[in-house]
Amino acid sequence: MARLDGKVAVVTGAASGIGLGTVERLVAEGARVVAADIQDEKGEALAARFKDAVIYRHCDVMDEAQIKAAIDAAVAEFGGLDILFNNAGAGGAMGGVEETEIDGIRRTLDLLLVSVMAGTKYATPHMKARGGGSIINTASIAGTEAGWGPIAYSTAKGAVIHFTRCAAADLSQYKIRINAICPGFIATSIFGATLGMARPVADQMAALIAEKGGPMQPIGRVGAPMDIAATVAFLASDDAGFITGTHIIVDGGITIGPRHAWDKTASSPFLDALGIDQEQAEAMRVAMAAQQKG
Ligand SMILES: NC(=O)c1ccc[n+]([C@@H]2O[C@H](COP(=O)([O-])OP(=O)(O)OC[C@H]3O[C@@H](n4cnc5c(N)ncnc54)[C@H](O)[C@@H]3O)[C@@H](O)[C@H]2O)c1
Repeated sequence: MARLDGKVAVVTGAASGIGLGTVERLVAEGARVVAADIQDEKGEALAARFKDAVIYRHCDVMDEAQIKAAIDAAVAEFGGLDILFNNAGAGGAMGGVEETEIDGIRRTLDLLLVSVMAGTKYATPHMKARGGGSIINTASIAGTEAGWGPIAYSTAKGAVIHFTRCAAADLSQYKIRINAICPGFIATSIFGATLGMARPVADQMAALIAEKGGPMQPIGRVGAPMDIAATVAFLASDDAGFITGTHIIVDGGITIGPRHAWDKTASSPFLDALGIDQEQAEAMRVAMAAQQKG
């Protein structure tokens, strides 16, 4: 028996990248899925690929009514709701503190934070009726550290992590677990889309990122949507039955420490500040080792 047999899921941002990979994984594990997105052609193609297991719903997560309709569709079409993956997103408003327009900040928070809160709100009564459920929110390493995204985006993702804790405290009484995933650098169209490229060009850029971005991570490769999808499937399953209110970082080790900690060719800011180069540092290390031996 597959791990998610009989389970019903809603996935937002399902037409591309992490959401698409997650629909594929959830179906492979036995779930039926409402795939929600604004890229209708891709969403319909996905539903056609998985006939009985996937239906597509147009759902702009900036619109509360459309979120509710996509979630209600799971109950109407598949008889209930067990899993919600609040995942849709984009880079949002660009710029630093002074440059970011207030309207852009509001729109970014609507897209990345309010949408997650609304999805959770409208999923809750259905999961209560089912006797429990699992909600998974896509946050980001940008929500745990500065420097991985624009300020509005990073702030929204940090708030998603904290909302996840607060909601877990509220929903555990109904056996509803809620957790966040913080992806690192995942090869998807989001980077091109955020820079305003047309979708087909942004899709091609995802392949380029996969090819070139490996050296950024200690693990030596860029993340794939499947890396996140596997974590979603785990959190959705009973294997994660004791996990709620937390966030899991899935980033190939990119946030474990400064680059020189894992890349021996990178210079240490500490030695740089003292004016000691790599060669001198190595000579000092060898001399000290010899001294300690003797
Ligand atoms: N790719 C990464 O490196 C990375 C890292 C950290 C977090 N994330 C997060 O992962 C999530 C998925 O992004 P991705 O990397 O798969 O990018 P992607 O562009 O491949 O997929 C995002 C999907 O969300 C959809 N979408 C955008 N705005 C929407 C809206 N208003 N309503 C409904 N759907 C909408 C898009 O149509 C697209 O299908 C986002 O929340 C993103 O912030 C991505």
